[in-house]
Amino acid sequence: MIKLENVTKTYNKSVRALDDISFEVKGGEIVGFIGPNGSGKTTTMKLITGIIRADVGKITVNGFNVRKDPIKAKESIGYIADSPDMFLRLKGNEFLDLIGDIYHVPTEKRRKRISEFAERFELTDALTAPMMSYSHGMRQKIMVVAALMHDPPVWILDEPMVGLDPKSAFELKQMMRDHAKAGNTVFFSTHVLEVAEKLCDKVMIIKKGHILYDGKLEELEAKSKNSSLEEIFLELTEK
Ligand SMILES: Nc1ncnc2c1ncn2[C@@H]1O[C@H](COP(=O)(O)OP(=O)(O)OP(=O)(O)O)[C@@H](O)[C@H]1O
Ligand SMILES: [Mg+2]
Repeated sequence: MIKLENVTKTYNKSVRALDDISFEVKGGEIVGFIGPNGSGKTTTMKLITGIIRADVGKITVNGFNVRKDPIKAKESIGYIADSPDMFLRLKGNEFLDLIGDIYHVPTEKRRKRISEFAERFELTDALTAPMMSYSHGMRQKIMVVAALMHDPPVWILDEPMVGLDPKSAFELKQMMRDHAKAGNTVFFSTHVLEVAEKLCDKVMIIKKGHILYDGKLEELEAKSKNSSLEEIFLELTEK
């Protein structure tokens, strides 16, 4: 689970990116986080992972307070950042080994999970090459493998499908479904509303640091005169 209670975040003492937001994502749920550019999605995700600190408010992940118990909270999280251009001087397998060491993934489990994921994403041959030489999609895929290697219960994925080919995007969506079905938490942001519509149990719509809607997709659709999430999104966010 992920729980935010009255969280506010200001950048440079002036830009209020999030204004007193509260929400909960429970185990077993896939929640899609949607909102216009600059509305606060990445900021929310970075706060949950502990990369940045809130001005005020309480954040709990898998029962652990992100401020008071940061290591336990971080161990529970698999995070895919919004850009995969990191550690480019390392070869794929060196990068995965580094991440495996940081998260204390035992050698056997590491080998098994890396080979499973690499095959699923058709990345096996690339693992011996420097990540500098990878295409955008290949970098994105290795970030997925790295984030999920330690088998975390809580997945926080910032636009995870960007740049993935159709087969890889299909595989990732299937993994997200299976993960939630097993009782775990999947919280992801996207601008592709068809993906949110197909994948999510619930959606959360954010604009200018305020949550406009947080609930079941069917209930949102039932309340609106519009039929598609795209139309509802435009109506809500343009008001
Ligand atoms: N490091 C930073 N320093 C100053 N302001 C920032 C910083 N990061 C984000 N912001 C501001 O915070 C607000 C929210 O940005 P954020 O990146 O969370 O949006 P987003 O919803 O992820 O957008 P996108 O859909 O484009 O990814 C914006 O006004 C942005 O300019
Ligand atoms: Mg973002």
